[in-house]
Amino acid sequence: MRISVFGCGYLGAVHAACMADLGHEVVGIDVLPEQVQRLNHGQAPFFEPGLDALLSDGTASGRLSFATGAAAAAEATVHFVCVGTPQKKAEFAADLRFVREAVTGLLPHLKPGDVVVGKSTVPVGTAEELADLVHEAEPEAELLWNPEFLREGFAVEDTLRPDRFVYGVGDTDQARRAAGVLDQVYGAALAAGTPKIETDLATAQLVKVAANSFLATKISFINAMAELCEATGADVTSLADAIGHDSRIGRRFLNAGLGFGGGCLPKDIRAFMARAGELGVDQALTFLREVDSINMRRRVRMVDLAREVCGGSIVGRRIAVLGAAFKPDSDDVRDSPALSVAAQMQLQGAYVTVTDPKAIDNAAKKWPDLTFATTVEDAVAGASVVLVATEWPEYVALDPGELRGWVDEPRILDGRNCLDPQAWREAGWTYRALGRR
Ligand code: UDX
Repeated sequence: MRISVFGCGYLGAVHAACMADLGHEVVGIDVLPEQVQRLNHGQAPFFEPGLDALLSDGTASGRLSFATGAAAAAEATVHFVCVGTPQKKAEFAADLRFVREAVTGLLPHLKPGDVVVGKSTVPVGTAEELADLVHEAEPEAELLWNPEFLREGFAVEDTLRPDRFVYGVGDTDQARRAAGVLDQVYGAALAAGTPKIETDLATAQLVKVAANSFLATKISFINAMAELCEATGADVTSLADAIGHDSRIGRRFLNAGLGFGGGCLPKDIRAFMARAGELGVDQALTFLREVDSINMRRRVRMVDLAREVCGGSIVGRRIAVLGAAFKPDSDDVRDSPALSVAAQMQLQGAYVTVTDPKAIDNAAKKWPDLTFATTVEDAVAGASVVLVATEWPEYVALDPGELRGWVDEPRILDGRNCLDPQAWREAGWTYRALGRR
């Protein structure tokens, strides 16, 4: 099938490359010429495992190309909208500018039978508004809503083999025919038995924010338990293991620590609260305010813990922060808890050096006042405190004995509860973590 993908960021670039991998002819469209140029050379503009290979295969085969103008979509019949919906400045609500620009740019190129598929995370009600625009421009074109659930670091896998498809479909024969076209796009995964939930537009838009709100709530729940553990001398990791054995609860997303960050969870729960307010049902989501607060408190607590292990002050102390990305296997530093803590400690008088296997460039752009090192050895040289802020496998596997020789004072803060406390203590380190003795 001939496909266009509007927006070539984390979502769109992966979607375009995966659709080409499935055998479709794909053009990715983005407003940033440098991004388009890189993608046309088969290079991902960010780190995502497996993406470079798909991009170079796709561009070499001729099935995948990238362009800057909406006119490039004219030959396609299925148009995916994958642009970002960031949080508005000084407001909780989502900024829908890019979604509206993408759809408005596409309208003059729509033909009878074309299908516009929204994938961006939007406030409920947006799809209905966009569907009206599509019908006004081309009555025989249709808009569906098909949210994505991809996780950074697993984006290729999640796109090629999703755990479910959700289609938001209007109540007309034309809309149902459009859903049939989307079935052809996803033919391989559907044939392999991937579940599909076909529902109305409003539900499809809500599914995405509901899923992310649930995940954020689960993380903040365990982090609230961590606060209780800190007050009682209990251990949050054992607690998570114990409650996680109950299959109704499950162990996943119960890792206590610095909490959630990234380009999705924080802004999605806020946009959801803002939308609930507009709909007059803000009470339904007031608990998300608490979820957000618990999450943010963890960052403050970590700075306090650093102060505590330094005997009351971090002023003039050398602190090494291992990890800048909001999670491992990503170079994304958007709302990264690691960087937020690093910056706070620096602002409070510590000399902070940050390292990360992939995210140093992005981190340095965001926080140029921090010092960056390319290796763990350089980052921890002369440090009084080492903070593991992102659980990259290489940090989890660090040898406490070897690291001891590089630091000034052996104090380790485990911001992700990913280290073995006993091994670090036995190697002579003062080990502290959130929610643990
Ligand atoms: C999330 C959703 O998982 C995905 O389905 C959606 O499409 C986009 O948003 P992502 O932003 O890639 O994906 O990150 P995710 O893996 O959900 O992690 C989010 C944050 O939560 C990270 O900062 C991570 O470190 C943190 N986290 C995760 C915890 O603190 N504890 C956990 O147990 C799990």
